[in-house]
Amino acid sequence: MSEPAATPFELRDLAAEVGSEINDFLLVEVRRGHAAETKSSASDFVTAVDRACETRIVEAITATRPDDGFKGEEGTDAPGISGVRWIIDPIDGTANFVFAHPGFSVSIAAEVDGVVVAGVVADPMNRHLFDAVLGAGARCNGETLQVRPATDITRSLVATGFGYQPDRRRRQAHALMTILPEIADIRRMGSAATDLCGVALGRVDAYYETGLNEWDLAAGALIAAEAGAVVKMPAPDDLMVAAAPGIIDDLLALIGRSGLID
Ligand code: IPD
Ligand code: CA
Repeated sequence: MSEPAATPFELRDLAAEVGSEINDFLLVEVRRGHAAETKSSASDFVTAVDRACETRIVEAITATRPDDGFKGEEGTDAPGISGVRWIIDPIDGTANFVFAHPGFSVSIAAEVDGVVVAGVVADPMNRHLFDAVLGAGARCNGETLQVRPATDITRSLVATGFGYQPDRRRRQAHALMTILPEIADIRRMGSAATDLCGVALGRVDAYYETGLNEWDLAAGALIAAEAGAVVKMPAPDDLMVAAAPGIIDDLLALIGRSGLID
């Protein structure tokens, strides 16, 4: 029999509990150093810790909610029967984790009937626990988040990221030749989830990237949107943009001129 329906707040609290546990585990593991294997290309890293974290997150959520579905970056794919599906990136920014560079994160989102209603991003090295509930705002360590009130694209700090396939990277790098001269500067943190939370936190004014997967963005997109960002959700392989409302139109126009997308 399916377990009783949970509220989005209960799903958020469960994600936060599990995310905090994984946070503590990663803070220990990052100091030990881990060998990286590669996946889709020489720059696409994975470690035994990515897999262990995904297994632990699924186990911990299943212990409370045995009928839920899961989709995880490291291969978990189970439909579930409760209407709740968890979208998990056990370590977003694995390259940062391998190099002990701050900015990797754990991303856990809860989707109900196809809509993401709660999300948690835990950033261990920056000691940040971000969360959001659809329609109820976003927080970092319990403090309400609000995007920066940017209105001038030429003074805006914009984060972006690069995929793993050489052709995609070439196109992303080429687009920067148009975008970079028109903004204050670019940041490349190395984790889409952290970048989206950076928009929510007001550390950057916007973030864009092409070719993300749902586990990279599900929790972070909700956190950015609930902090007041305009979020353009992608179709698979499409452009993802999250920006302060005052610069979204200019940023989209700039990206359009850059040749990043067809
Ligand atoms: C990657 C990171 C990176 C982004 C890539 C993602 P991973 O995820 O989010 O910032 O630029 O597109 O694939 O592979 O480190 O989990
Ligand atoms: Ca990822």
